[in-house]
Amino acid sequence: MSEWQKENWRAYPRVQMPDYPDAAALAKVEATLSSYPLLVFAGEARRLTKALGAASRGEAFLLQGGDCAESFSQFNSDGIRDTFKVMLQMAMVLTYGAKVPVIKVGRMAGQFAKPRSAPTEVIDGVELPSYRGDIINDLEFTPTARIPDPSRMLQAYTQAAATLNLIRAFSTGGYADVNQVHSWTLGFVEGEKAEKYRVLAGRISDTLDFMKAAGVDSDRAHTLQSVDFYTSHEGLLLEYEEALTRLDSTSDKWLAGSGHLIWIGDRTRQPDGAHVEFCRGVLNPIGLKCGPSMTSEDLKVLMKKLNPENEAGRLTLIARFGAGNVAEHLPRLIQTVKDEGANVLWVCDPMHGNTIKSSTGFKTRPFDAVLREVREFFAVHAAEGTVPGGVHFEMTGQDVTECTGGVRAVTDEDLSARYHTACDPRLNASQSLELAFLVAEELSTLRETRKSRVAG
Ligand code: PEP
Ligand code: CO
Repeated sequence: MSEWQKENWRAYPRVQMPDYPDAAALAKVEATLSSYPLLVFAGEARRLTKALGAASRGEAFLLQGGDCAESFSQFNSDGIRDTFKVMLQMAMVLTYGAKVPVIKVGRMAGQFAKPRSAPTEVIDGVELPSYRGDIINDLEFTPTARIPDPSRMLQAYTQAAATLNLIRAFSTGGYADVNQVHSWTLGFVEGEKAEKYRVLAGRISDTLDFMKAAGVDSDRAHTLQSVDFYTSHEGLLLEYEEALTRLDSTSDKWLAGSGHLIWIGDRTRQPDGAHVEFCRGVLNPIGLKCGPSMTSEDLKVLMKKLNPENEAGRLTLIARFGAGNVAEHLPRLIQTVKDEGANVLWVCDPMHGNTIKSSTGFKTRPFDAVLREVREFFAVHAAEGTVPGGVHFEMTGQDVTECTGGVRAVTDEDLSARYHTACDPRLNASQSLELAFLVAEELSTLRETRKSRVAG
């Protein structure tokens, strides 16, 4: 393979990227972005790679979550705070179930560009280019709004920087204190229908009380009051990614400075395409979405290209087959990984294979289907003796009505009340936390099974 350069992707076939009509304006934005400070540091990306390596061995667990698409119009501090808060609650519940550290990675501070199933959209007989995320064009259904505008990259950069600034402040400013996080969780289990989660919440309370009494919280105040929180997004808009890619002098490798983890989408993972070419050369941990059309042959080539040194934590395979389809696809891909002796982290995205249209005409996801896919993912890994290392959710801390079901049941009729997503339907705060309790159950069952296997 030839030596990697950050602009080489331009010579490869690209899909899902906009054609900017004004080349001069695009070049100007790229030059401006190239002079801006990076959003993340190489040391942080390396630390995340190491943590993901631990998750691939079952010594940690990944929780990745956030918006399908961040939006300019819904950008405010409450939204960021609430998603951050729910992720910490979920992480605490998962930590209790898994008894290993939970790595928290937001689909935040950069998750702006969207692949679409069709290049155009038709409403009432009018056909316009599809919306591709706020970093590219505008959701409004008018011809002007849908023209790709490079200056939106600068606004996305600014929003990502401000988001990350707030997250960094929350991570260290006492907001992430484990006792405080637990007191938020208790609000959820007080709900009448959430009583089945009360036992687990009670056990967490007991543990925290015990730690306090034993003086663990004061001795190790730092680790209990602050938290590591990383950012991630789909590396789709390569002009933006390239402009924020710089050489890390410590390692002499290239860092994609737009976020800690970058993933390749299910629609842009062509082994000879531009997105794979770009991602193979950056030092960040890389995610790779694996849908039903992923072949063993492609996976083999992709693993070699994206992780030639077979480093643990470098490559995360994000399975998204849809409930009912996991048993058909996951075993064959696990077999490929085994045949290659490849180090990968397996994560379950139970969102993207479970999108349906509600009887009331909204794009939605039933909570039960999401949970079913997670359970199928755990079951296949149990059967194969491999590690289910994390989960990937589209979620928000806001009380939206976008996915149906959950203990505070959202019905098809409820969807119109607070349907705010710019793209795919997200789990709301209550549904997210409920799912964390259910995944925690899967994790503790897995732990018990492993223990009894060792004992037997
Ligand atoms: C996404 O994660 O928002 C996405 C588009 O996923 P996928 O590439 O798996 O469809
Ligand atoms: Co999505």
